[in-house]
Amino acid sequence: KKRIVSGVQPTGSIHLGNYLGAIKNWIAFQDTYDTFFFIVDLHAITLPYDPQQLAKATRETAAIYLACGIDTSKASVFLQSNVRAHVELMWLLSSATPIGWLNRMIQFKEKSRKAGDENVGVALLTYPVLMASDILLYQSDFVPVGEDQKQHLELTRELAERVNYLYGGRKWKKLGGRGGPIFKVPEPLIPPAGARVMSLTDGLSKMSKSSPSDQSRINLLDSKDMIANKIKRCKTDSFSCLEFDNPERPECNNLLSVYQLISGKTKEEVQLECQDMNWGTFKSILADALIDHLHPIQVRYGEIISDSAYLDKVLDEGANRASEVADTTLNNVYQAMGFLRR
Ligand code: TYM
Repeated sequence: KKRIVSGVQPTGSIHLGNYLGAIKNWIAFQDTYDTFFFIVDLHAITLPYDPQQLAKATRETAAIYLACGIDTSKASVFLQSNVRAHVELMWLLSSATPIGWLNRMIQFKEKSRKAGDENVGVALLTYPVLMASDILLYQSDFVPVGEDQKQHLELTRELAERVNYLYGGRKWKKLGGRGGPIFKVPEPLIPPAGARVMSLTDGLSKMSKSSPSDQSRINLLDSKDMIANKIKRCKTDSFSCLEFDNPERPECNNLLSVYQLISGKTKEEVQLECQDMNWGTFKSILADALIDHLHPIQVRYGEIISDSAYLDKVLDEGANRASEVADTTLNNVYQAMGFLRR
């Protein structure tokens, strides 16, 4: 079976961008692939944070995965920090990562510019190395993510190739090692629609957990009234009809795409259905579709989050399964890099 891994950071609340760009797409892979879905709690401490909040958001994110339809009889669901190999491999990989590669990462540049050098922890810079280790430990074939993770995936691929070259290829064989590549080089899976869900208040910036305005995003756990209210107030334009793909109308394209994905209709169907609508009519249809789609997820979430014994068991089992795979890779890397193993 081909293998798939992916994860979401437990920072803030999980929103429609995380859902449409990532989690919703994971569900379809469970039957045909060997899947590992983690909650990347270690990634959530790269900017100042509150420990109590982290613990709470970590459980909530795990419960959201399950509520969205991740089936633990098929997929391994676990916390990144519960599988020690992630941090260990990160150290080994960081020795093979040129600092220039990390300095070039767009997310690092954006986030560090905002915070200022003296306030930026080293972990913000080395974050993509931890992400590479999340992926490479499982010898993953594919990584389903939104558009904003593309550059991190590219770095992961380059790093895998570099380590394979430095320690896994002919060079190592000559020294008496097993030879052969150490890591599989993974491919990103970026969905054709939903890879970049935009903010409700500005169609040119992406929907994000870190935006100070809650009006800019639909959180998966927002109440009916909040959803209706956010859609009612969201930014539109003064053109008369509705259409996809007009670069002058980013908000229109975004809202139609969200409706398309949430309703399960095709782009052509949505185009036909909505082209003659005014904003008022469309907004109420969109709000209803969102509420209907999210309601069953919210009901299941309520059940799961209140059963902490069940959640603990799921995460324990997931971590055990993941550790088996991760430890095998980690041991191979140690060996290939010249460490003596007991
Ligand atoms: P994070 O937590 O920022 O986002 C989780 C997933 O949601 C996607 N996403 C979006 N998709 C569409 N539109 C948006 N507005 C939007 N915002 C976020 C992201 O692309 C991502 O797929 N570094 C990662 C987490 C990570 C990871 C990994 C992912 C750590 N290790 C290994 C895959 C494999 C992150 O911060 O995602």
